[in-house]
Amino acid sequence: MPPPPRQALQRAEQLRKELHDHDYRYYVLAEPVIPDEKYDRLMRELQDLEAEYPDLRSPDSPTQRVGGEPTKEFRTVAHDPPMLSLANTYSEEEIGDFDRRVRELLGDQKPLYVAELKFDGIAIALKYRNGALVQGATRGDGTQGDDITNNLRTIRSIPLVLRTKEKAMMNIEVRGEAFMHRKDFEGMNAARSAAGEKVFINPRNATAGTLKMQDPKVVASRPIQMYAYFLFAGGKELTRHSSNLETLRALGFPVNSNSKVCRNIDEVIAFWKRWEEKRESLPYDIDGIVVKVDSLRQQETLGTIAKSPRWAVAFKFAPRQAQTRLKGIALQVGRVGTVTPVAELEPVFVGGTTVSRATLHNIDYIRELDLRIGDAVIVEKGGDVIPKVSGTVPSLRPRGTVPYVMPASCPDCRSRIYREEGEANYFCENAECPAQVQGRIEHFAHRGAMDIEGLGEAAVETLVSMKLVANVADLYSLGGKKKTLVALERWGEKSTQNLLDAIAGSRKQPFRRVLFGLGIRHVGTGVAKVLAESFFSIDTLARATEEDLHLIPQVGPKIAESIVHFFADKHNREIVRRLKDAGLSMTGTARSQKGMLNGKTFVLTGTLSSCTREEASHLIEENGGKVVSSVSKNTSFLLAGEDAGSKLARARELGIAVISEEEFTKLIG
Ligand code: IVH
Repeated sequence: MPPPPRQALQRAEQLRKELHDHDYRYYVLAEPVIPDEKYDRLMRELQDLEAEYPDLRSPDSPTQRVGGEPTKEFRTVAHDPPMLSLANTYSEEEIGDFDRRVRELLGDQKPLYVAELKFDGIAIALKYRNGALVQGATRGDGTQGDDITNNLRTIRSIPLVLRTKEKAMMNIEVRGEAFMHRKDFEGMNAARSAAGEKVFINPRNATAGTLKMQDPKVVASRPIQMYAYFLFAGGKELTRHSSNLETLRALGFPVNSNSKVCRNIDEVIAFWKRWEEKRESLPYDIDGIVVKVDSLRQQETLGTIAKSPRWAVAFKFAPRQAQTRLKGIALQVGRVGTVTPVAELEPVFVGGTTVSRATLHNIDYIRELDLRIGDAVIVEKGGDVIPKVSGTVPSLRPRGTVPYVMPASCPDCRSRIYREEGEANYFCENAECPAQVQGRIEHFAHRGAMDIEGLGEAAVETLVSMKLVANVADLYSLGGKKKTLVALERWGEKSTQNLLDAIAGSRKQPFRRVLFGLGIRHVGTGVAKVLAESFFSIDTLARATEEDLHLIPQVGPKIAESIVHFFADKHNREIVRRLKDAGLSMTGTARSQKGMLNGKTFVLTGTLSSCTREEASHLIEENGGKVVSSVSKNTSFLLAGEDAGSKLARARELGIAVISEEEFTKLIG
């Protein structure tokens, strides 16, 4: 084969340099400077040249990221120096001990610390010779690991060639962490699950599994990232870890920008606290911070014991994942009848609290995990506080377990439970089910709704089980049962009075909170607020049709249907009436909008105090409404002033909404 002409050689050289540079800008800096097509064009040109003159091909060419044949078994390579592990600390006290020991050993030299994020991934080591990547390995046991060079070459943020000409930097070793962004991990899992493949438990597992794959082509298709945090350069005197991080960055490695040089341990602790709070805001998982003595000379003085350096330590966050055993699956019935399976766990400490129950979402989730009673399970506490079971440990499954089967009846009232087509959840069909009753009252009393202090789960349970309340309206007649309440175990005079006062005080809560408190399915705080602003009163809302409700942009068909369904129920209407009689706010703060009364007919009756009837009529017409003289079934509202007479009676008879002058004033604004 003819040697490549000089021109081809130069062009290939040029293309490689450009492509490396674009990789760096795209994958490390995340600031691409050319469009993808242009990049592809350059790449194709280089591929063509290399095809024509195979001598041009070199392992560090950007065309060779996904090269190499599948590996049957990875070669073992030695780590020199060994890849150390870190001792763990978990509290301010423990990190204080670390600091004290460091300062003691350093005598009068004061340490600076570098605080870094502790990435929850897989440690890797990269060896460069003559400025090119020649070997990449896993940590293994620290002294030797697997040679996974071909796999690591596929990670586009890892430079195949160093961005330097400095002689002393040509032969170096760089260590860091390979990991996956949570979003990429989820996307990958979704695709796997759709293809009927097994899903990975978390990004760390997915990374570990990927790096051990035999075919680099598959690895190349996986979204693996890396951050470099260590540099060894035999030929050059290095002085500080913090400046090594800078050097790594200059050499073309991705280096995390959140590290901080700290002058004392208090600054380290502040960094730890800040990141514990902010960890969810990162696109990848971290499980703590790493604290390193900055001066390399001091590092040397401090030395290493066993497998961990004395100059660095992991300062971990409270773990958010733990392994425990599934003792049983309970069914919890919510206020709208939803039956949710809940895991009963061997208590385990996770994310700062002891967890013995965790949500299992629904039967599909249980089936997906093939969760069986007796299984070893992973419990996770994510961004939200509710713990969940995120997986099982199949190798620890005891003998004789069986797949979970959903019971046929409600655990609380023994009524039938059913699941509708397309619904993930089962429902208890009995609206009087004590669990539902209790759930509705708890919801009503909840902070976001009527905010009745002292009316939590335990108190509601007592009231319901003692048959003192069967619905939310009953709460407002509890005053007459004070003697019975005081006699209840652990209630006493004072706490009973406090509770009664809190219930009485809740009468002042605004309409939107009452609406939310009613627990209409799909009506959350936001929708309740919008409804309260769009309707004059509970009566107008109760009379609204699905079409009326659709006029409100935030109300979709599901919500509209649910509202109409709620008010169609006699029992619900009765409760609303009783709440109104108890003095709760049942009128909104609807703001006047042009044309807001379009298509509405009003009848006026009685004496108005703040304006004349003419003025009121004028206001109604100005807003698009119509005023007529007699009540019929087509009347939308009767505006009733003082001493209203027969018209009021007639309106009541026909079920026409009656609004007071006060409600009318509020409405018109
Ligand atoms: S330094 C001697 N820095 O934590 C220092 N490690 O047991 C060795 N890790 O295996 C590591 N983020 O996989 C260092 N910013 C960071 C790190 C980090 C994560 C991992 C690494 C190592 C383990 C320590």
